Amino acid sequence: MIHEAIKPAHPLAARLTRGYRQILCWLLGIERWHAGAEERHPYRQEILRRLRAHAPVALLEVGAGLGDIVCRVKARQCVSGDISGRVLCAARLCHPWQWITRAVRFRKMRLGEPVTGCFDAVVCVNFIHAIAPVELRAHFRSLVKNNLMAQGMLVFDVVSNPTYRYNHDPDFLLHGLGMQWETVAGFEFGRSLIFAHKTGGV
Ligand SMILES: C[S@@+](CC[C@H](N)C(=O)[O-])C[C@H]1O[C@@H](n2cnc3c(N)ncnc32)[C@H](O)[C@@H]1O
Repeated sequence: MIHEAIKPAHPLAARLTRGYRQILCWLLGIERWHAGAEERHPYRQEILRRLRAHAPVALLEVGAGLGDIVCRVKARQCVSGDISGRVLCAARLCHPWQWITRAVRFRKMRLGEPVTGCFDAVVCVNFIHAIAPVELRAHFRSLVKNNLMAQGMLVFDVVSNPTYRYNHDPDFLLHGLGMQWETVAGFEFGRSLIFAHKTGGV
């Protein structure tokens, strides 16, 4: 599988960004993972490529971390949701322009809590492996039923890796949701991306 790369940042800019994020992680007491180099997260490039092709008017990312996916997509309405207030604070400081201009709304939210709004793309990646399958299926069902427009796209990841708590099965998670999906495999730690399109009613 070839993953098309998006132009990398200039090495000096990348180093400065990393240094700034390391300081934010230290000051705010959040995981240093958030300051990792962009090359360590190749799945983001594939998601960005697909989102840009899908061209959503309204985009929601839950578990968005520092917002490095949602803040790089131009949509009329973008919501960057995360369970951690400190992570959201860092996300605002990493994407100040999107924050100040309100191009992206940063919201505290836990996957499974009711969400206001209807979106044509919803992204939930790199945190769902800690959520039990039955619970995650219910969360996806609620999002697809209440917050995803017809023809909308749900993006999530699954891993095949015994060090993760749950290795999810997309057939199980999407059962009965009237979705058609495509799997893109071959990412780090046995990660695959699922791009699921809403084709019918739930
Ligand atoms: C590893 S980071 C991934 C960030 C982003 N999705 C990415 O791939 O670049 C996981 C993020 O999910 C958030 N998170 C964990 N559990 C969550 C939950 N149940 N609901 C919403 N956010 C959650 C964490 O606070 C953290 O910022």
